[in-house]
Amino acid sequence: MATINSTAQPDKSNIQGMILRGFTHPYSCHMIFKFNNKAGAKSFIKAILPYVQSAESWGDEKPDLMLNIGLTYTGIATVSNLTKAQLNFFPSPFQKGPTSGGSQQSLNDYGPSDPSGWAFGNSTNQVDCVVHSYAMNPAALKQVVSLVSDAGKSSGLTEFFPIDNGTKRLEEYALIPRYSVHFGYLDGIDQPELGWSDPPDPLDNNDLRNFLIGYPLSSSGPGPISGEAGAFAKDGCYNAFRMLYQDVETFDKFLTDNADQIAKEIGNTPEYTKEWLAAKLNGRWRNGSPLELSPDNPDPKTSQATKFSYANDTTGMKCPFAAHTRVGNPRDEEMASSEPVPPPRLIRRGMAYGAPPTIKSYEGERGLIGLFLCGSLSGQFELLYSWINTTNFSDLIPIGQQQGQDGLIANRSLPGADNSYTIPTEKGAVKITSLPQFVVTRGTAYCLLPSLSTLKSIAE
Ligand code: HEM
Repeated sequence: MATINSTAQPDKSNIQGMILRGFTHPYSCHMIFKFNNKAGAKSFIKAILPYVQSAESWGDEKPDLMLNIGLTYTGIATVSNLTKAQLNFFPSPFQKGPTSGGSQQSLNDYGPSDPSGWAFGNSTNQVDCVVHSYAMNPAALKQVVSLVSDAGKSSGLTEFFPIDNGTKRLEEYALIPRYSVHFGYLDGIDQPELGWSDPPDPLDNNDLRNFLIGYPLSSSGPGPISGEAGAFAKDGCYNAFRMLYQDVETFDKFLTDNADQIAKEIGNTPEYTKEWLAAKLNGRWRNGSPLELSPDNPDPKTSQATKFSYANDTTGMKCPFAAHTRVGNPRDEEMASSEPVPPPRLIRRGMAYGAPPTIKSYEGERGLIGLFLCGSLSGQFELLYSWINTTNFSDLIPIGQQQGQDGLIANRSLPGADNSYTIPTEKGAVKITSLPQFVVTRGTAYCLLPSLSTLKSIAE
């Protein structure tokens, strides 16, 4: 058993800022690169290092522009001095990447999400580095994007341009309401309240030690916890970076097509039923109100609420078991004996990309850039993804619904998956026979957000 390090708290000036807080800058851009050689990779990191924002307080004024950097396993292998034997200390999912058989058992990128069609992160588009830039205004975003792009060019990097919009880069589209996603829900409400319990409490899944490498709560990590690789990774955190297309047309059509019939079953109007159905797929109304606190209507008073429980909703009458937020964070729900208690948490950062549809047309590429931060890709990110694709994580979920799926984001092409969706109500269960696929994976990269001291050592 590794020693539990209860006293030495991490130094915030050594941790990349996005790990501890959402930056909340109104403009952002995520740039994806492949290194072509070690010297170029090092000169690139050196050029952009002065703009890397740490987790230290920035005082009263937010910096106009700043960035954070992620390196994949292949990126680290290129840019670091770690030997093959030392690199082997990194956990297998990170080494092998998101397209590996092991990771795909959870991610299940089948059919339209198949990695062969990804814009980045598959065998033909290997990613080594992702740069996350943030700015207070469009001019500052342009400035930071240009300096990263110029540094990439002069260092011989290849940049990926995953979409076919004006810039072809993954830039935040400032015209959709801030903090909402393309299906119209408020997002960015619930995050782990990162803490540091002393002495460490193995049952505190919000403890920073579950996210930050180097302060292991057990011999299983987060790691690597020893050797040169441990030193390289210390004060870093993994980021599962995922580009997820959202099919707004199919989503809107699904709500409209089902509203009339379900309205009759629940005894309400089709207009109300559309919103009710959207809430039952997500677990929160589109304004953010959790169904557990506001089961019948959205309520401005609960729209940002994060303190609620599923323990008294053992039939899913308020919030269906497979609603997206209930799967992503089952809280105090009774879990299957094979699953961890309490369930793992993810730190979520990200943004919507692509313009929203117009009144006339749904044409265009749009979706979510998800940054899912964790200390263990398999124990946090992939475990939650496996529940998203097969909702068999709780003993409360009726036997017949154990092969069901997350109402919003699951991959419906998964062989053997049950695409039906059950919404318990006091008038009997509303059963949707087949949920369409609303979300398609466009690319994935497993990155490490290394500490500032590690980035500096690379640059030197
Ligand atoms: C296009 C894809 C996605 C959309 C549209 C989406 C949408 C949302 C929305 C609207 C919320 C509620 C707001 C909040 O609680 O902050 C939410 C929460 C959440 N989502 Fe997603 N999400 C997506 C992908 C994912 C993925 C891939 C994961 C996990 C791997 C995930 C995990 C979570 C978690 C953990 C929560 C917080 C639940 C809670 O603490 O109650 N989401 N998502």
